Amino acid sequence: MTEQPDQPPEEQQEKDYSWKLRKEAQFWGEMARVRSKDGIPMTQDFSRATRYRVRRSSLGWGDYFQDPKLEALTPFGRARTRFVEMAKNTEGNRSLDLCCGAGWLALEQARGGKTVDAIDISEGEQEVAREYQATLDEKIPGQINWIVTDLNHFTTEPEQYDQVTAWDGLHHIEKIEHLCEQIESGLKPGGHLLICERVWGGDSPSVRARIGKYLEQFLWTFVPTPKPYTYGRKFRELFGTLSLFFKTKILRKTHVSKPWQIQDDGFCSPFEDMSGEEILRIVNDRFEVEKTESYGCFTEEILRSLYLPRFLRVPTILFLGWLDHLLIRTRLLEGKIAIVYARKRADK
Ligand SMILES: C[S@@+](CC[C@H](N)C(=O)[O-])C[C@H]1O[C@@H](n2cnc3c(N)ncnc32)[C@H](O)[C@@H]1O
Repeated sequence: MTEQPDQPPEEQQEKDYSWKLRKEAQFWGEMARVRSKDGIPMTQDFSRATRYRVRRSSLGWGDYFQDPKLEALTPFGRARTRFVEMAKNTEGNRSLDLCCGAGWLALEQARGGKTVDAIDISEGEQEVAREYQATLDEKIPGQINWIVTDLNHFTTEPEQYDQVTAWDGLHHIEKIEHLCEQIESGLKPGGHLLICERVWGGDSPSVRARIGKYLEQFLWTFVPTPKPYTYGRKFRELFGTLSLFFKTKILRKTHVSKPWQIQDDGFCSPFEDMSGEEILRIVNDRFEVEKTESYGCFTEEILRSLYLPRFLRVPTILFLGWLDHLLIRTRLLEGKIAIVYARKRADK
């Protein structure tokens, strides 16, 4: 039998990449369907989102509780409202929304009268968005152009957008430097770049960020959370992390643990945390940054998953949310999420 020559590494890489990208698109498409089964998710419609338990167990993930009115009272919720107001009301009406998902931010901008090019790799997710928006009985002054494309290889015509927005998507992009170059080129001089991004996941998170991560896992273990996050499972995970900590002196190493991701069936996003803190560095280098805000050090997932009667949930969430914010503001801890308001430099 003649031996088959090894496949060239680039070809194999290309194959792996295409496979991962298809999986990414499928994962988010299915997530959008599952999320919208029992109510209106905030990821689909920020203004009309309802309060309900979002059941993700069919995807092997745990449930969480969406409570838009309560969230609007937390520091991050308030920041999201300010972000949306800004995105709707900037001057100019041509906007590009990156990693648009099920379209909530594109929809808000269209409600503000903008024409939005909404880009995502997941056709399934955009389908959920389009089906939902077709049911709306309001007159939306703007318009959304749905585009399915890979942002790692995205190119755009120069100076056609007044604004570029991205919410919680850029950390999935591998070629973030290339994408930022395209954003810069696509923006008109002085155009706005508004992003909200997970900036955890770099190679060397700060000690403050790592302490927050441990604090998060510790708290997560003790607070009541819905099935399948049982105490047995959470304690096993905590002991696993602690033993790793003592074995590897992990405070000096990178360790990203996400105990709320139930990955037994391997069905998750293959591009999670592809980029992290470098997003901030690149945006700072290329754009005129007007303001950067930091949120969510140790409470992000806990606030969504807290399994308590409402009269206890509300005060606990407000207390933990504001405590987290205070610790970030006093620089004792570091947030995982950054909201950045920037503009294209006028001299570019
Ligand atoms: C965490 S979701 C955020 C979605 C949305 N912005 C939101 O706030 O709900 C990340 C999104 O990035 C999209 N995405 C991941 N990799 C991508 C790529 N290479 N090109 C375009 N979109 C991508 C996913 O399909 C998914 O919709």
